[in-house]
Amino acid sequence: MNILLLGSGGREHAFAYKIRQSERVSKLFIAPGNAGTAQLGENVVLNPTDLSAVYEFCKREKIDLLIPGNEDPLVAGLVDYIEKMSTIDGLSMLVAGPNQWCAQLEGSKDFAKSFMARHGIPTAKYQSFDATNLTEAYTFLETLTPPYVLKADGLAAGKGVIITDSLQEAKDTLSDMTQQGKFGKAGELVVIEEFLKGIELSVFAVSDGKTWQMLASAKDYKRIGNGDTGLNTGGMGAISPVPFADEVFMKKVVDRIVEPTFSGLRMEGQPYKGFLFIGLMNVGGDPMVIEYNVRMGDPETEAIFPRLNSSLLELLESMAAGKLNEYQVLLDPLTAATLFLVSEGYPGDIKKGKEIRLPEHIGSAMEDQWVFHAGTIMKDNRLVTNGGRVIAVTSLGDSIQSALNRSNALASSIEFEGKYQRNDIGLDLLAKS
Ligand code: AMP
Ligand code: GLY
Repeated sequence: MNILLLGSGGREHAFAYKIRQSERVSKLFIAPGNAGTAQLGENVVLNPTDLSAVYEFCKREKIDLLIPGNEDPLVAGLVDYIEKMSTIDGLSMLVAGPNQWCAQLEGSKDFAKSFMARHGIPTAKYQSFDATNLTEAYTFLETLTPPYVLKADGLAAGKGVIITDSLQEAKDTLSDMTQQGKFGKAGELVVIEEFLKGIELSVFAVSDGKTWQMLASAKDYKRIGNGDTGLNTGGMGAISPVPFADEVFMKKVVDRIVEPTFSGLRMEGQPYKGFLFIGLMNVGGDPMVIEYNVRMGDPETEAIFPRLNSSLLELLESMAAGKLNEYQVLLDPLTAATLFLVSEGYPGDIKKGKEIRLPEHIGSAMEDQWVFHAGTIMKDNRLVTNGGRVIAVTSLGDSIQSALNRSNALASSIEFEGKYQRNDIGLDLLAKS
C-alpha cells in the first residue's frame, strides 16, 4: 500500500512512526515532512493546500491512502477535490479526513456555534457580528460580565481569540477585527461569547460516517510560560489520559457532545469521516464545548499515539472506507507525558539552523520513550533546528509523575542552542491523579 501523509510537525512524525509499524506499507511519502519523517519514508516537496498538485502526485505515485495531518487542506476542500478527481479518473483512493462542509466546524467559529445550537450541544452563549452591526455588538458587550471573549470567525493559527477584562479593549478589538482587517478575512466576522470558568481538556474521537469510537482524552498546555503565562503557542506539552476525565465525566461527554455531534452531522446529510478533536471546558463537572478541530492535535497526537495498541494503519483505512465497525481502538491505560523543546524566542521570531545533539541510544530500541521531530532538518549531514517547536519527547509511566520524570530526563539529554521548555507540564493534574 502506498501512502501520502501531509504535514511537517511532531504530529506527522507520530503518524509516520505508527503507520510504519504495519508491514503492509510499501511506500510512505510525507509532504513536506521533517528530519524525523525522513527516517521513516520519503519527504517530498509539495504544498498540502495546492489541491491539484496533491492530486497529481497521488495519481503519479499510485497512492492508495491520503492522510491530511493539519486543517488547512481540509478547510480548502482537499477531500472533495480528491474524491471528485479520482472518480473521474477511475482511481480507487482512500482519503482519511472530513469533507469541506464538515471541516467548517474548525474553519468557521460561527458555523460551529450555530451547528451546536441546532443540536443542543452545550457551549458558551454567543452572538456573531460584522462591520454592518457594530452598534449592536457594543450593546451586546455591555450586557456581558467580563472577561469578554472575542473570536475571529476564520482560521487564525490559534491567534484569533482575544480574552480581556476591559470593555474598552473588547470594543477596540472588535472594531480592529471587523474594520481594520486585524486577522484579515478570518476576522471580518467575530463571535462574541460568554466566558466559561473551569479546567480545559480535549477529547478525540474517530468516525467513518456511520459509526464512531472514542480515542482518548488529553490536556495540552498552550502558553509559552510556566503557570500558563505569556503568549499562546501551538502547544508546549500534553498529558493523556486526563485524570478527571473519569467514567462519569466521559459519559456526559459522550451523551451530551460526541454522539449528538456525529448524529447531528449525519442528520444534516454530512456524515463525518475522520478524527474529531473536541476542546472542552469542565465547568463544575459539566462538559461544555470550546471548539471543534477536524484533525488530530499537535502535541496531543504525540501523547496519544504511543498509547495506541491497535494498528493505526487499519484505523485510518477502516475510517476512510466506512468499515470502522470492523476495527477496535485499543488503548494502553498507562499515562503519556509529552514535552516540547522549542527554540529561543518562540512563538515570536526564532533563529533556525542550530545544531541538535541527540544522545546515541536515540533511534535504537527505546521501548516506551519517543523522540518526535517537528522543526528539524538535515543540513550538510547535521541535524539542525528548522522551526519554533523543535522536538517533542514522550514517555509512558504508571502515573503522571513517573511519565514526567522520564520525559524530563530524556528532554535534558537533548541539546541545542537556545533550547527552552516548560517545567510545569502536568503538575496541575498531579493532585488529581
Ligand atoms: P479556541 O481557539 O476557540 O480554542 O480558543 C483558544 C483558547 O481560548 C481556548 O483554549 C481557551 O483557553 C480560551 N477560550 C476560548 N473560548 C473560551 C470561553 N468561552 N471561555 C473561556 N475561555 C475560552
Ligand atoms: N494543540 C492544539 C492543536 O493542535 O490545535
